[in-house]
Amino acid sequence: MRYQNCVSVLFPLLLCCCYSLVAAQNLPYKAVNLGNWLVTEGWMKPSLFDGIVNKDLLDGTQVQLKSIKLQKFLVAENGGGTGVSANRDSASGWETFTLWRVNDSTFNFRVFSKQFFGLDAAKKLVATSNSTTNPETFQIIRNTSHPSKIRIQASNGLFLQAQSETVVSADYKGSTNWEDSDPSVFNMTTVKTLQGEYQITNGYGPNRAPQVLQDHWNTYITEEDFRFMSQNGLTAVRIPVGWWIAYDPNPPKPFVGGSLAALDNDFTWAQNHGMKVIVDLHAVQGSQNGNDHSGTRDGYIEWGDSYIPDTVTVIDFLAKRYANKLSLGGIELMNEPTLGPNLDSLKKYYQQAYDAVRKYAKTTHVIMSNPLDHGSKELLSFAGGFDRVVIDVHYYNLFGVQFRNMNVQQNIDYIYNQTASDLNGITTSNGPLSFVGEWTAEWNVQGASKEDYQRFAKAQLDVYSRASFGWAYWAYKCQFNHWSLKWMIENGYIKL
Ligand SMILES: *[C@@H]1O[C@H](CO)[C@@H](O)[C@H](O)[C@H]1NC(C)=O
Repeated sequence: MRYQNCVSVLFPLLLCCCYSLVAAQNLPYKAVNLGNWLVTEGWMKPSLFDGIVNKDLLDGTQVQLKSIKLQKFLVAENGGGTGVSANRDSASGWETFTLWRVNDSTFNFRVFSKQFFGLDAAKKLVATSNSTTNPETFQIIRNTSHPSKIRIQASNGLFLQAQSETVVSADYKGSTNWEDSDPSVFNMTTVKTLQGEYQITNGYGPNRAPQVLQDHWNTYITEEDFRFMSQNGLTAVRIPVGWWIAYDPNPPKPFVGGSLAALDNDFTWAQNHGMKVIVDLHAVQGSQNGNDHSGTRDGYIEWGDSYIPDTVTVIDFLAKRYANKLSLGGIELMNEPTLGPNLDSLKKYYQQAYDAVRKYAKTTHVIMSNPLDHGSKELLSFAGGFDRVVIDVHYYNLFGVQFRNMNVQQNIDYIYNQTASDLNGITTSNGPLSFVGEWTAEWNVQGASKEDYQRFAKAQLDVYSRASFGWAYWAYKCQFNHWSLKWMIENGYIKL
């Protein structure tokens, strides 16, 4: 089957066989993820955001607004599509608003059903607009000594005020002494934040973001790191990239150019040190999982059929550019989709993106991430219909109630029993290959000793080395030591 495919595309048989042998020698990979490099994840290095004005008010920040005078929360009635009142004693979905940042102090407020705050003809606050124009744009003015106390200035120059529980309007003139009786003073509580590529680039803005990101790319990973990795037994890197890389050097705003040159460097460094590069499309237009690392602006999961052509274009670009690099170890079509019932779109995309890779790379492994919200066997039979395809699964003993109170031994047993059996279920003799594309030695155990960590890491290495394509640790560098394979190796926690 595999050879047939090679011949049928008129690829010279001899060359094809040689490539197969080279590839076969390298599997399974012992890899590490270059996380938080070309796709920002704030939790791994928060200081990257330090230079942003109002760095707690980035795109996707979810806020709740309480009229201090009325002691009531603002609510987009019905979740949106109609008026805004100030009559709720407690806050959840309809009382939570997601920020779109226009500049350091100017924002749009997106409500539960995705409309934006705006003004009607009588200057009343409504949540009816589906787009952001001037009337949907508001300035947040903070009290310098109590930054959660704010006033909101509308596009007409006047301030929002909660006149009564049913009337919130943009018609309050003048300054304030921030008294509790002032109807234009609100208390803002943040319930969720995002710190991804959209947030850092739009947070710094077009004048500062290019330099900040370029400095990060120049210093976070260098050829020295590839030397370290190869000397310590690693054979590959998995590199998360974002869709905007295909539009380098001038990607759509707020993203900035330069990540493509960094990825080019990786291929050179990998080759210099005998390693492979797995390119992983981690962030797709529309967002496939709503997480920071999906490049989302506001956390909504909107990837679906209408985004397939653009996403295939990105894969086409990457495949074309890197197909002939000897250090190419695989192309992953989309990281961690979380699409609920939208599996058909995903399969349609995987088919088209696979074809795009095969236009340029006949033998490169194509990696399909299993949807996070489905069982790990979900793609097994589907992926079996392709040549040189890999199923990527991620194992963390962290997220999920079953891990909350596990002790050291229970965690280790879980790996040898539960996870091993799960991985065994997708490691078949003639189907797609299996890949544990993310795992870490961090867990929920408090106060674990170095030896506990060593045993936990060894258990995972024992089990994940059975994956036929290999494994990749998350991550190479991180502010939290146990998430950093570099630190774990340097400090004797992990030996390969
Ligand atoms: C105002 O917001 C702050 C921070 O978000 C919160 O800690 C405080 O409890 C709020 N105060 C009132 C009166 O709602």
